[in-house]
Amino acid sequence: MRVGILTGGGDCPGLNAVIRAVVRKAERHYGDEVIGFRDGWRGVVDNQWIPLDVESCRGLLPRGGTVLGTSRHTPFSLPDGMAAATKTMRTLALDALIAIGGEGTLSCACEMSDRGFDVVGIPKTIDNDVGMTERTFGFDTAITVATDAIDRLHTTAESHERVIFVEVMGRNVGHIATWAGIAGGAAFILVPEEPFDLDDLCAALLRRQRRGRFASIVVVAEGARPRPGTFEVAEPPVDAYGHKRLGGIANVIAAEVEARTGLETRVTILGHVQRGGTPTPSDRVLATRFGVAAIDAVHDGAFGQMVALRNGAIERVCLRDATAKLKPVSDDLLDVARTFFS
Ligand code: F6P
Repeated sequence: MRVGILTGGGDCPGLNAVIRAVVRKAERHYGDEVIGFRDGWRGVVDNQWIPLDVESCRGLLPRGGTVLGTSRHTPFSLPDGMAAATKTMRTLALDALIAIGGEGTLSCACEMSDRGFDVVGIPKTIDNDVGMTERTFGFDTAITVATDAIDRLHTTAESHERVIFVEVMGRNVGHIATWAGIAGGAAFILVPEEPFDLDDLCAALLRRQRRGRFASIVVVAEGARPRPGTFEVAEPPVDAYGHKRLGGIANVIAAEVEARTGLETRVTILGHVQRGGTPTPSDRVLATRFGVAAIDAVHDGAFGQMVALRNGAIERVCLRDATAKLKPVSDDLLDVARTFFS
């Protein structure tokens, strides 16, 4: 078989590990030829690709980012994109395409599958918000980085008796904030799933202060927003792909908390450091399992499907179901986090 592979959307640790796994099993087990499209769907539209083989994938397992490059373009966002993508598939005589991405890339894969493309999806994102899978690779690395940062911020917060707001990624869901916040012993965690009340937060921080020596870490997901009508926050700008450009909400909250309570605040925005660098062992293993499963799915003709982690096992789920709805943080986990809010 001749199989194409692409990485789309925001990069995340583990993308190179998954590419390596696909190529390894494709070449050594099935005798396939693999090509890698440059910059996500853009490479399919522009017919830009590189050959991939076991040799060219040497050293990729621990390397962050994606050697293929990535973009948020889709054949639907580029002029004459569908016609060009169809031409590329025909010209290259591709038997199948493996699309590795988050919500945007996989939704596009689903649309392409509906239009007759033989596509298998692999979920990735540090945000861990893709539906129908317990985990996406990249998430473990992100929470490891965020937890390490919180651990470090505790000691300086304690020394100065400050409230330190730590902003993490998570535009629609607060998986990173919740996991890193619990792991790091945060006093409060603000997530997009539950609009927060600034009065409640201020009152709780003052209660903590009255108890004696005081320091608090508040973890804020970049997509966290106040309860409507309680406190106004400016709408973020929107980028060329219609994505809100988030980042900085923690500055707004910290300034307001300081003004209302007199507590001294500081802000650390972790940003892309959560997304860069080498993947954790757990992300390397998950990426490797997904890669092997995806090329198996191609050989089983399981098109329009996505590989997923469910009950600890790798399964196939329908791309349409997986992209229908983002996966929020479970109520159970939010309840565990709340136990420590005081
Ligand atoms: O990968 C998902 C994500 O990390 C979001 O949490 C974040 O808002 C977004 O990517 C930022 O991506 P970029 O800076 O590449 O537009």
